[in-house]
Amino acid sequence: MIKIAPSILSADFTKLGEEIKTIESADYLHFDVMDGVFVPNISIGLPVLESVRRVTDMLLDVHLMITSPARYTAQFAKAGADIITFHAEAEDRANISPTIDEIHNLGKKAGLVLKPGTPAEAILPFLPKIDMILVMTVEPGFGGQKFMHDMLPKIQTLRQAIDSCNPQCELEVDGGINPETAKLCIQAGANVLVAGSDIFGADDRAARIAALRG
Ligand code: DX5
Ligand code: ZN
Repeated sequence: MIKIAPSILSADFTKLGEEIKTIESADYLHFDVMDGVFVPNISIGLPVLESVRRVTDMLLDVHLMITSPARYTAQFAKAGADIITFHAEAEDRANISPTIDEIHNLGKKAGLVLKPGTPAEAILPFLPKIDMILVMTVEPGFGGQKFMHDMLPKIQTLRQAIDSCNPQCELEVDGGINPETAKLCIQAGANVLVAGSDIFGADDRAARIAALRG
């Protein structure tokens, strides 16, 4: 089944609670955390996550775009995250496996994220122990960018690896997803699609979520 994860980065923050109600037919709520160091933008963090947790029962998919994410996993778990994904490029290689273990010990799902320039091979050693791989299909930092078609082979490679080594692992894509690019990602093997501007730019969000599912 294809799952949709609206990114609230593109929501109207003056009425975030109401905005969330419009996307509750989706599967996950995607929550983008940016620190202005790992990516050239600053977004939302712990207090907003706590507020979101209080207004919805949706599964919260927290995408950490922060340097040394291990410093903050416990706090994001406590604030209400259900899935915590962090960038393979943002943590010391020796600390990636212990960080995955820590997230699991906190009772949460753990995932690794790849920037466009990072090859699939970088995370293969960790595949047996993770619940999600997130492939960035734009450079992380901003919503509303154009989908990078050259990420499709990476999605295919990771689908094959997942099927042979950890079929439970979800394969998520993030950046530039619309009904057209969603189709390409699904064909390549993705099963979770993040979309920000495409969903929040639509008048009928439930219809857009259904359109993205294909
Ligand atoms: C970008 C974020 C995305 C972003 C996607 O760094 O990780 O989740 O909100 O936005 P769209 O769907 O507009 O490309
Ligand atoms: Zn994201």
